[in-house]
Amino acid sequence: MKEDYVDFIDLIKTRTGIDLAQYKEKQMKRRLTTLRDKRGFKDFVSYYNALKMDDDLFHEFLDRMTINVSEFYRNSKRWEIFRNSILPSLMEGQRKLKIWSAACSTGEEPYTIAMILSDYYDLDNITIHATDIDTHAIDRAKNGVYPERSLKEVPEDKKKAFFNKNGAFYEISDQIKKCVNYSKHNLLADSYESSYDLIVCRNVLIYFTEEAKNNVYANFANALRKDGVLFVGSTEQIFHPQSLNLEVPETFFYRKK
Ligand SMILES: C[S@@+](CC[C@H](N)C(=O)[O-])C[C@H]1O[C@@H](n2cnc3c(N)ncnc32)[C@H](O)[C@@H]1O
Repeated sequence: MKEDYVDFIDLIKTRTGIDLAQYKEKQMKRRLTTLRDKRGFKDFVSYYNALKMDDDLFHEFLDRMTINVSEFYRNSKRWEIFRNSILPSLMEGQRKLKIWSAACSTGEEPYTIAMILSDYYDLDNITIHATDIDTHAIDRAKNGVYPERSLKEVPEDKKKAFFNKNGAFYEISDQIKKCVNYSKHNLLADSYESSYDLIVCRNVLIYFTEEAKNNVYANFANALRKDGVLFVGSTEQIFHPQSLNLEVPETFFYRKK
């Protein structure tokens, strides 16, 4: 049965450019097997043949493999550290920061960055490039409508200033929306821009194999300007940051030397 999953990986890569072999196999296979079984297919190749014919099934598969969970100010203590100890040095002498929110999911992360920066910059001077592999997640980010639970860490003043309540949902204001440009980007296959002041990439590298993760870290290190900062998720520390010419001003933050 192992070959069946390997064949599936090849077919998906050819059709979508997504290389499931670069994601931790045990976790990914478990997630996809549950879904496949639920839809009544007994092997991956017949599941693939059905995905090819049925868009809904295909999007359900993409949804399952991408894991879009996010929230505003996720791990809010880390954002406090960002604001108090990292941002001041990034802002030194910079009129405008070049920022990338990589694997941004449904937009909570880039909008959080914009809200934090709004205390220091005119909104016209804030641009965040936000990317994800999943275009459905990007569509939801652009739409900017969230359930209350996504906002539980949002400071009261920001909630008042930048959200409109509509029934049970909250819509992010156009002023904040305008700070963020979205595009599709696959961290495992596409090229990276350079000269970033700040790259935020959280809660996706945990799903990648060690090798894939190390390649992505090296790409991020290359994409930063000198003294630029990479902000990673809570279980995503880099083991040998020195080898990538990165120093560690705070846990989960890496500065390019
Ligand atoms: C758990 S969410 C993280 C969202 C946000 N960064 C946060 O920390 O709340 C993981 C995101 O990674 C995206 N993703 C998975 N594989 C990717 C890849 N190869 N390239 C870019 N994004 C990817 C998924 O589509 C998903 O939106």
